[in-house]
Amino acid sequence: MAKPVKTFSCTACGASFNKWSGRCDGCGEWNTIQEDAGISAGPPSKSLGAKRGSTMVLTDLSTEESPPPRSQSGIEELDRVLGGGLVPASAILVGGDPGIGKSTLLLQAAAHFAKQGLKTIYVSGEEASAQVRMRAQRLGLADAPVQLASETNLRDILTTLEAERPQLAIIDSIQTMWADNVESAPGSVSQVRAAAHELTSFAKRRGVSVILVGHVTKEGQIAGPRVVEHMVDTVLYFEGERGHQFRILRSVKNRFGPADEIGVFEMTGSGLAEVTNPSALFLSERGEPAAGSVVFAGIEGTRPVLVEFQALVAPSPHSQARRTVVGWDGGRLAMILAVLEARCGIPFAGLDVYLNVAGGMKVTEPAADLAVAAALLSAREDAALPAETVVFGEISLSGALRPATQTENRLKEAQKLGFTSAIAPQGGKAIAADGMTLNTMGDLTGFVGEIFGA
Ligand code: TYD
Ligand code: MG
Repeated sequence: MAKPVKTFSCTACGASFNKWSGRCDGCGEWNTIQEDAGISAGPPSKSLGAKRGSTMVLTDLSTEESPPPRSQSGIEELDRVLGGGLVPASAILVGGDPGIGKSTLLLQAAAHFAKQGLKTIYVSGEEASAQVRMRAQRLGLADAPVQLASETNLRDILTTLEAERPQLAIIDSIQTMWADNVESAPGSVSQVRAAAHELTSFAKRRGVSVILVGHVTKEGQIAGPRVVEHMVDTVLYFEGERGHQFRILRSVKNRFGPADEIGVFEMTGSGLAEVTNPSALFLSERGEPAAGSVVFAGIEGTRPVLVEFQALVAPSPHSQARRTVVGWDGGRLAMILAVLEARCGIPFAGLDVYLNVAGGMKVTEPAADLAVAAALLSAREDAALPAETVVFGEISLSGALRPATQTENRLKEAQKLGFTSAIAPQGGKAIAADGMTLNTMGDLTGFVGEIFGA
């Protein structure tokens, strides 16, 4: 008999290798490679005699009645991130740091779905049912008809789900689940993969929607949610800074709706409250116009969101100047600094640069380039931008400004929040912006000249 081949997986990103190494080639993390445990399922059955699958003609499908509609939870911020509600028989992963509020969010979601008439089971592998009930009581949801279970054995859970046939099952968390045909400990890559695979195929087979909760892990012993991202239909991440009240639910993959959609929540003493106007919240701590502060009119998914970029530029006491970024991409900052130096002759050598997005928000849109450049210049020149101005536009390596998408939505949102002017790239669609002064620029040099007189 052939010697079994050993395989290894990264607990952070799930990449597979045939030998161990200290650093994952996939994601670059250290000490995250683990040996996979074998699955003691016996030899595969001979190919002859295996059951034949069936196929269907696409046009035959369309004559059947239309698929069951999505179910709404009534939590608007959640429904929008799901792409307009929960799709029947879909598998959803909700990842996030421990303690960020995943269990709170999903218990609230379970209660809301159950109140809308969806048969819902909430399976906790971390807390006893009595503890979950206590939490529900604190959230004011004790009267919701949610079924609770406290269980970690995958076989028992599948049996329960098979018997109960709920429409929605929430598994909190996937790292605590344990399949008895896999030899390794709960939380290992093999266990997490096996449990996620069983649960997602159950979802498809039985028409049950499943939501898997996954903790983002810091050290390499426990597999993180990225390991199962490819198995599910929808991947949501729940983000936020511990020190801030805001929590952002972001869709990074969605087979049934737009990705990059966000839902904004506020953590209160009685659970998560929806934030229907995030711009107002993100700008609420903004004081008088100050050097280094610039408001970016961004788009998150289908919704405009205004956020404040803050920059600080100071002579560096170090031989190598610091570049520190919170809430934006460090590589992108380096690029903007290089374009400012090469195209506009404004050097940042010998200067420490700090860039922060206020409120704990993470911005990923390239249209934030011009807002970042404006914040950096404003900090460097110690000159505030004209009051009540928003900025947006992508910067190319040549220093040219590229028109942004959805200009009209950005301007409308800015106007709604009391801004009176906007700085944006030339071109794009002609925009009607009554009540807003639109200042369009062709390139970064023109922008620097006009705004900072340099
Ligand atoms: P939890 O949902 O248990 O986080 P996770 O499941 O992601 O690990 O939330 C943990 C934190 O949320 C905890 O520090 C307390 C806080 N919290 C509130 O502030 N208000 C509440 O109503 C609840 C239930 C939790
Ligand atoms: Mg939890």
